[in-house]
Amino acid sequence: MSSFVERAVKEMAETVGDRHVVCALSGGIDSTVVAVLLHKAIGKRLHCIFVDNGVLRLNEGQEVVDYLREHFDLNLKYVQAQRRFLDKLEGVDDPEQKRKIIGYTFIEVFDEEAKALGHVDFLAQGTLYPDVIESVSHKGPSAVIKSHHNVGGLPEKMNLKLIEPLRELFKDEVRKVAAELGLPDFIIWRHPFPGPGLAIRVIGEITEERLDILRKADKVVQHELMASGWYRKVWQGFAVLLPLKTVGVMGDGRTYEHVIALRIVDSVDAMTADWARLPSELLERISSRIINEVKGVNRVVYDISSKPPSTIEWE
Ligand code: XMP
Repeated sequence: MSSFVERAVKEMAETVGDRHVVCALSGGIDSTVVAVLLHKAIGKRLHCIFVDNGVLRLNEGQEVVDYLREHFDLNLKYVQAQRRFLDKLEGVDDPEQKRKIIGYTFIEVFDEEAKALGHVDFLAQGTLYPDVIESVSHKGPSAVIKSHHNVGGLPEKMNLKLIEPLRELFKDEVRKVAAELGLPDFIIWRHPFPGPGLAIRVIGEITEERLDILRKADKVVQHELMASGWYRKVWQGFAVLLPLKTVGVMGDGRTYEHVIALRIVDSVDAMTADWARLPSELLERISSRIINEVKGVNRVVYDISSKPPSTIEWE
């Protein structure tokens, strides 16, 4: 991996020369590694843009942005575009529609921000090998299973050349590169988070209220996985808000409230996955904390499906 870093930095420095690169920073390990690699290669000629799309997790992104600002002298713009995305998502419940709306709105916002920078020739992205094979077919016969918003669209529209230093790597290799670069554990071990964010974990229509319920439930999941030491042992763990209500009982009264599904999986590269065999005491703690602490939820279920035939995300 040290030879990978050296080679990638050298190659990018040669490719870019004295031109400028714009990078979409998502807060995840992939784009963070790309930004740090490029910063090593070209310094201030790298311009990072972080777009808050209104469907981020609690503190998702902000922590990484703060870390980068503190430790690297890089150009970084934080764009608050929450309202713009949420207005477009209003009333939409189809998963591919949600993905497409977030994809093209992201492109619009990013395009405006990149144009405001002045002359830029390259776009850097944290695309990994699994994104490449699941999203486009030129490397093999895989059908489009879900539209990944981080591949396609942007470079053509903006007339930019692409730089994707991680496109031949799997996630475990990116983690090794991150460690080689000296990045902290909270970035290296951060679970993958999809481009369309919580929009594809609020099943059905996205409203502020439903996002709020999901964020609170998800925070419990993150907290309990970390406190128990399971966060690093699983590939991904998160909450999903279902589009139905169920009957429950509280004291002497009937309740009729939302259901949260827990999706916690083991995987090595996201191409296949299996549900994590968590200790029942941990599942019990997550369930009772969500039901007690998150207003509007009276039931928690555990997803015991593997990929394939299911996928990791529900939408
Ligand atoms: P699925 O649901 O296809 O997810 O089994 C595989 C992995 O990809 C993540 N994922 C995405 N990542 N943009 C991304 O950057 C996307 O549109 C997207 N959709 C799914 C998912 O969280 C899992 O790690």
